[in-house]
Amino acid sequence: MMMSITDKQDLVYYLNCTGQEEEKLFQCAARVRNQHLGNNVYLRGLIEFSNICRKNCLYCGIRRENSPLVRYELTDQEVLAAARYAWQAKYGSIVIQSGERNDRSFVLRIEALVKKIKQLTNQQLGITLSLGEQCAETYQRWFDAGAHRYLLRIETSRESLYKKIHPNDSLHSFTTRLQCLEHLQKCGYKTGSGVMIGLPFQTTEDLADDLSFLKSIHIDMVGMGPYLEHESTPLYTCRQSLLSTTERLRLSIHMVACLRLLMPHINIAATTALQAINPLGREKAIAAGANVIMPNITPFSNRRNYKLYPNKPCIEEGAEEALRLLSENIAACECRIAWNEWGDPQKAGCTDLAAKPITPDVPESGRVQKPIK
Ligand code: 5AD
Ligand code: SF4
Repeated sequence: MMMSITDKQDLVYYLNCTGQEEEKLFQCAARVRNQHLGNNVYLRGLIEFSNICRKNCLYCGIRRENSPLVRYELTDQEVLAAARYAWQAKYGSIVIQSGERNDRSFVLRIEALVKKIKQLTNQQLGITLSLGEQCAETYQRWFDAGAHRYLLRIETSRESLYKKIHPNDSLHSFTTRLQCLEHLQKCGYKTGSGVMIGLPFQTTEDLADDLSFLKSIHIDMVGMGPYLEHESTPLYTCRQSLLSTTERLRLSIHMVACLRLLMPHINIAATTALQAINPLGREKAIAAGANVIMPNITPFSNRRNYKLYPNKPCIEEGAEEALRLLSENIAACECRIAWNEWGDPQKAGCTDLAAKPITPDVPESGRVQKPIK
């Protein structure tokens, strides 16, 4: 029986599928990526600029109220050295990520850094920013300085769940998050978003809705990964209700594969949180249709303090050694690293469904829909 993903029921079904059918789902997703984008995997060198954050998200290890955490901010020299490394090592582009700040000095410093990195690299290095919610003017300022991609996760597309995992105040507003995504798109950024997978109170139906949401807003890039409970955060009290980490990893890979079938042309990241559960977590995502990896190039002394979640990998590993291993593992997935390329998504969102329908082994009547909690 031939079947493609046409509605929410299909999505829930494929998010839950197992065994041979799961294998087929992953293979089909990888084939769709190869057909539309080739077997290229793009690198973004990740620079964790600062762990200072004005927000207090209930799940995040660098939230404002996690007071024992040592806070840092990289110097200009450190950022420029990391950017130069990425350029010389032929990464093609970088991501500058930070806790959220919107004070004037921060905004101007980022603007100046973006300009300097562009100059330093003959305008060659692509710059993605991941610096949280900002006003439209700030987004424009950074875009004009030379940043051309921006990542801002929605975390979950269900507003009632968003409210459960954020403090109940105006600083943590779902509506503002949506407006920011709109501003980014209007500015002209290639815009990325994403969700956490396996959150407390989240169901498979929620995850299916998340995928439909990302498609409905014509997102260009997606980074999504398993939720990992951090003991110094309020959401840790809900840990009893979580799926096992193995299940969260499995579900995350299914999310990647289903999204690839829904949006064949976009960039999908194999995120670091996958690697926190399994050393080969990112490679599993590549084998299921992802096409972007973000190796950490933050100076070593600061990495330990940018702990959004526990077991964050690559804290000890050297960049060159990590890259050599990664390159071998990517080749084992029948993909290749596309050196020196920006690797922008081909077009903003895509309304086509999968080019080739998926063939499940289980008849429709055998479908089970279960909540994941
Ligand atoms: N587990 C997994 N991902 C997390 N993030 C923050 N805290 C966690 C956690 N405990 C993710 C969020 C945020 C991104 C920068 O890191 O999705 O958008
Ligand atoms: Fe700050 Fe982002 Fe962590 Fe929220 S998820 S506390 S905004 S770094």
